[in-house]
Amino acid sequence: MYRAKISGTGSYLPEKILTNFDLEKLVETNNQWIVERTGIRERHIAAPDQATSDMALIASQNALAMAGLAPADIDLIIVATTSPDYPMPSTAAVLQDKLGARSVCSFDLSAACSGFVYGTSIANQFIRTGVYKNILIVGAETLSRIINWKDRETCILFGDGAGAIILSRASDQDQSTILSEHLYADGALNHLLDIPGGGSRLPFSQKVLDENLQLVRMKGREIFKNAVRTLASCCGEALETNKLTVDEIDWVVPHQANARILEALAKLIHLPMSKMIMNVDKTANTSAATIPIALDQAVRDGRIQRGQLVMLAAFGAGLTSGSILLKF
Ligand code: UT7
Repeated sequence: MYRAKISGTGSYLPEKILTNFDLEKLVETNNQWIVERTGIRERHIAAPDQATSDMALIASQNALAMAGLAPADIDLIIVATTSPDYPMPSTAAVLQDKLGARSVCSFDLSAACSGFVYGTSIANQFIRTGVYKNILIVGAETLSRIINWKDRETCILFGDGAGAIILSRASDQDQSTILSEHLYADGALNHLLDIPGGGSRLPFSQKVLDENLQLVRMKGREIFKNAVRTLASCCGEALETNKLTVDEIDWVVPHQANARILEALAKLIHLPMSKMIMNVDKTANTSAATIPIALDQAVRDGRIQRGQLVMLAAFGAGLTSGSILLKF
């Protein structure tokens, strides 16, 4: 078996910033409520001519540059997204063309906010078994197109952006490796966070549009409780599997949905907030993109260093969840 290492990270956030004060003009809300309940101050919003693959492209190019690789070196492309360019073809296939990559296996992965952790875990299997050497995994979302801008309980929470990593076969000298991965889904709780219309269950119709059923619906309070409990259990399981204590972990890069969720998580697993990578104040929840964006920012500003132990922990609709513990 081979080992996998993250050889490059990249991210992209669209230029336009929408602040809480801007939102005050759209729905009945206020900056103080949003900051106190979520920690979010602003979010990035894609330009009208930008779609998910456009942001994925820039994040991927940045990750390739860090890895010192060319598009032709990529053996597999996975795009985790809930807001693809089209229902068909996949955003991964669109990205493969835009990048100028070879004709390689390229697919989208639907696991909502846990998509990037799912994708990284899948990629790890292909590296370990020696099938592929360099895999591009992207989390990219244009959530601004699928949220209800009249619903103050959801529209304040989300933003647009993309993050990417290259997972490569590690050499014998590399200390970097993926130590463990745990993935889950609890479909019995699907109703807490969903987009009911626009699929085969309820195809597009005037009724779907009139009732905004093509947009995100969420039971925030229940999601909050499940998020804290599930993230803590994923982190605990990863520590137990690797016989590590939380003190031995250098960084936790969790799904960025709400600062209060992350504070509650830190308390439950006894992690100092100084070890929690958090950017939700500036990016809000970008679903599958939050973890690779936060990871890239922490790698580029020097917080995350080679050889350090990093925990990725995700939670989202489905209700999917998962963790990856890695030595960066
Ligand atoms: O990737 C996973 C995706 N989702 C999440 O992670 C979301 C998890 N949930 C949350 O982050 C929180 O539950 C929210 C931020 C969505 C809501 O915070 P909360 O502390 O759970 O508030 P609440 O739903 O209990 O609402 C409290 C009050 C309500 O008013 P009443 O009934 O007490 O009079 C809401 O109507 O706050 C009201 N409210 C707002 N007020 C101002 C709800 N949204 C807003 C708003 N501005 N945007």
